[in-house]
Parts: sequence; C-alpha cells; structure tokens
Amino acid sequence: MRVLIVKNYEELSVKAAEEVAELIKRKPICVLGLATGGTPVGMYKELARMHQSEGLDFSGVATFNLDEYYGLDGSHPHSYRCFMDANLVDGTNINRENMFIPNGKVAIKDVEAHCAEYEEKIKEAGGIDLQVLGIGGDGHIAFNEPGASLASRTRLVALNEQTIKDNARFFASAEEVPVYAISMGVGTILEARELLVLANGEKKADIVAKALEGPLSSSVVASVIQLHPKVTVILDEEAAGKLSRANFYKFAASMEGQVRLKLF
Ligand code: F6R
Repeated sequence: MRVLIVKNYEELSVKAAEEVAELIKRKPICVLGLATGGTPVGMYKELARMHQSEGLDFSGVATFNLDEYYGLDGSHPHSYRCFMDANLVDGTNINRENMFIPNGKVAIKDVEAHCAEYEEKIKEAGGIDLQVLGIGGDGHIAFNEPGASLASRTRLVALNEQTIKDNARFFASAEEVPVYAISMGVGTILEARELLVLANGEKKADIVAKALEGPLSSSVVASVIQLHPKVTVILDEEAAGKLSRANFYKFAASMEGQVRLKLF
C-alpha cells in the first residue's frame, strides 16, 4: 500500500488532484469512480482550477459515483448529484451524459434492477480506472456500513446511526438525513483498477489506523483496501497521527523520486 502523509488538507487536496490529473493525461478516455462528503471537496476544487488555468481536459472522462441517498431526487440540494454539479461538473468540461450516479428516487420495486443496471453500465464503460474513496467515522467506504458483506455489489443499504449523526452537518438536522442509500458494494469497489483513499483531520486518526494497520474485517469495512494491489492513501498529519508505521510510509514515499515509480 502506498501511503502519502502530507502536512495539511490543502496539500492533500493538491496531491489527490495531481493523482487524478495524471490518469486523465495518461488516458484521456478514462473512468473515474467518485466520492462525495467533505474530504474530496478540496481535490475537486483543485481539479476545476486545473481545468480552468491549465486546460486539463475532462471531455473523455466518464464518472460513476459511489452512492446516492435513497429518497432524494437528483435536484434536491442535498443529493449527491447536486453535490457533484456544484463541486466538480460546473467547474470543468465533464460531459453530463457520461456522469452516472444512482437514482435516489427509483421505486422500491425497481431498486434491484436499477442496481444491476448500474453495475452493467460500469462494465460497459470498461470498468473504473481510479476509484476515489473517503472513510466514514465508522470505517465505511461508500455506504458499506460495519458488517457489510465484503463481496457486496451495488444495492439498497441502511445507514448506521453514526453515519446519520456525522452527515447531519450537511442537513438542517439529523432527522432530515435519509436513512437509506443506494451504494456500490465492496466487491464493486475492489474491482476498480486503482484506489485513491483520502482522509484528513484528527477525527479520522483512529479509523485510519484500524483500516490501514488493523485486521481485515467487515467491522472496519475500509480495511478491505488491504486486499487491493494498487492503493494510494493520502493523509494529512492529523489523520496519520495514530499510525504505527508512519515513519516507514514517509521513507518509502521519499524513495519514489529515485525509482520514478509508485511504490505500492
Ligand atoms: C461519499 C461516501 C462516504 C464518504 C465518507 C466520508 O460518497 O461514499 O463513504 O466518503 O462518509 O465522508 P467525509 O468525507 O464527509 O468525512
């Protein structure tokens, strides 16, 4: 696992955007898996800046979001579709027709078919080249909450109490946070060719240490990243604060310049 520890959130955002930009330049027709939440906002801002000031071209990029709240229409201000519009799409030349986000308003009788179709669309697009992930306070990735099957596919899930509390900051109150979501599964995520995992702030230090250095377990779903052959984790100093191998990660990262290769 490639673990990059940077000084602060600004550096994390720039470094993460550089990783995404590198893929887009190397493979202009590519597929990104995208996350919402607070963590990637700075990265999206930097990607929009790169588009506007440096001409980073998103015209060949297709995107698949990890999840959407169930019950929210894509036009709802708290939907993840609106989040993506505001944070990335409006500032770049991503073609909206190539942006895929689960439909939070699909009728319950059609949910299974919708989820199967989402998986099919990922396959048709050629699979996800790079999947961006944040880590929930309870260790979730996408909305795969503690206890989720590590082989799960896109499906309707219930949100954990801690997630509802954590995400209440984006809503007027915890009561407004939807209690279900449509989420890519852990199995779906692990099929991406590369994972880019981001975490910042002291609040994430415990869960980051469990995910990176603890046992592989569905109790900390993010620990499945240990199974993937190409994972880059970017952390700020605070989120890296409880890692026992921080010095080794820093040493390995400092050696990358010499070999000009990513040391996974
Ligand atoms: C968002 C998602 C979630 C978040 C996680 C961390 O699409 O799937 O797993 O990545 O809840 O959220 P923040 O970044 O707000 O701490």
